[in-house]
Amino acid sequence: MTLLTPIDTYTDVFLLNHPLVSDSLSVLRDKDTPCPVFRQETQRIGEYLMIEATRSLPTIEKVVETPLESTSQTVLDPHHHVVICPILRAGLGLSDSAQRILPKATVHHIGLFRDEETLQPVTYYNKMPQVSNPQQTTTFLVDPMLATGGSAVAAVDCLKETGMIASNIVFVCLISAPEGINTLKEAHPEVRIVTAAIDRQLNEVGYIVPGLGDAGDRIFAT
Ligand code: PRP
Ligand code: URA
Repeated sequence: MTLLTPIDTYTDVFLLNHPLVSDSLSVLRDKDTPCPVFRQETQRIGEYLMIEATRSLPTIEKVVETPLESTSQTVLDPHHHVVICPILRAGLGLSDSAQRILPKATVHHIGLFRDEETLQPVTYYNKMPQVSNPQQTTTFLVDPMLATGGSAVAAVDCLKETGMIASNIVFVCLISAPEGINTLKEAHPEVRIVTAAIDRQLNEVGYIVPGLGDAGDRIFAT
């Protein structure tokens, strides 16, 4: 049984519905939550999100010899390549969780920040190699926040330049704004979005409300 609820107004946008997730979100939203607790709850939700976001990874049947008999067991397709791509800086808050769920995955980083005046993304680190087998590669792009959507669109642009197929990209985030979902879906309709919350809107300076403030600052105590 999946814990993901498809959002009717969009294609391939899923909300993670679970009381434990909701409970952790309340801690993240609280302005008085100290940095170590903020990091811990980010990681906790990150694991729940990744367990659900990985549900559609390809599998095969494998014969396993138990101490008692042979049995067929579903396992992840060993020929399918999985990439975790945290968007620096705040995406690092979800990176360890993603690696715990997918210990064999390759990790590639993309460095982006949004200009505080223009809200446009600025890329400062991108060493993504070309994908050798795009059909057999899935990438989990992780970032706590999907606000205007500018950073997510720019990150997917970078992934596509390496040959990645959009329908094999999953954007995983804690909190999204409707504006960001619309922007990402308009630019890259095939990208799947898995989020723990869809908040009301952006405020006049591009922050998600009610939101949780600046995710990077709260993760790294800056
Ligand atoms: C935050 C967040 C996203 C981006 C979302 O990063 O982690 O990457 O903003 O905003 P957008 O949808 O409007 O582009 P930020 O630019 O603050 O950089 P940081 O991770 O280094 O703190
Ligand atoms: N980035 C954040 O960290 N928080 C927001 O609300 C918007 C962008």
